[in-house]
Amino acid sequence: MNKNQLVQNTIDFVKKELENAEGGHDWFHIERVFNTSKLILKSEQANEIVVQLAAILHDIADPKFHNGDESVGPKVAQTFLKGQEVSENIIDHVVNIIKHMSFKNSLENNGKAFSSIELQVVQDADRLDAIGAIGIARAFNYGGFKNRELYNPSIPPNLNMSKEEYKASKAPTINHFYEKLLLLKEKMNTVTGKKLAEERHQFMLAYLDQFYKEWNGN
Ligand code: ADP
Ligand code: NI
Repeated sequence: MNKNQLVQNTIDFVKKELENAEGGHDWFHIERVFNTSKLILKSEQANEIVVQLAAILHDIADPKFHNGDESVGPKVAQTFLKGQEVSENIIDHVVNIIKHMSFKNSLENNGKAFSSIELQVVQDADRLDAIGAIGIARAFNYGGFKNRELYNPSIPPNLNMSKEEYKASKAPTINHFYEKLLLLKEKMNTVTGKKLAEERHQFMLAYLDQFYKEWNGN
């Protein structure tokens, strides 16, 4: 099968799977990560088809909607690719990327986990979608979905929560900027990723300044 056909089949499959996904993880999130991955690829020596397949399949089954089960996504991706005449080593690599990509996994494994330049490219693209103007929109969308306050001056950010505490936390959405979003810039892997992250980071800082200014009535 030629590569364009394979990429198109994968896009069709994921679009269908994500038909009822929530706003932060819908097909448009995948499309943005796919496009940003291709942009980053231009200045990296990486396997193009592995990056493209991993970008398209990376959120195929969000553990939040599968009782916290993180193994569903990699399995669904693997089963799909096995039906697509893709070589075993490409399948293994794509599945490994999906398994190891999340912020949580990279924290837990302290960098000892599987890594590859292909993973780094897709991870940068995914992290970029969590910051900047889009990242702000996604954060408040998520907060609304969870019925959280926008901001509460008497609840300060907490940078020492465990994964479980973080999930259960009812903290206002502004706290998420300090607990996660403003930390992502330092985690970027690639030169292009770092450059894009810097711009989006500055935008978030300006946004927060304006937010507090308006909050305080001036
Ligand atoms: P990923 O896309 O890496 O799987 P998540 O599923 O954790 O990330 O989050 C999806 C989106 O929801 C991201 O934009 C993230 O910033 C946002 N989000 C996650 N947790 C929170 C939270 N506690 N408050 C606000 N936004 C959140
Ligand atoms: Ni994602």
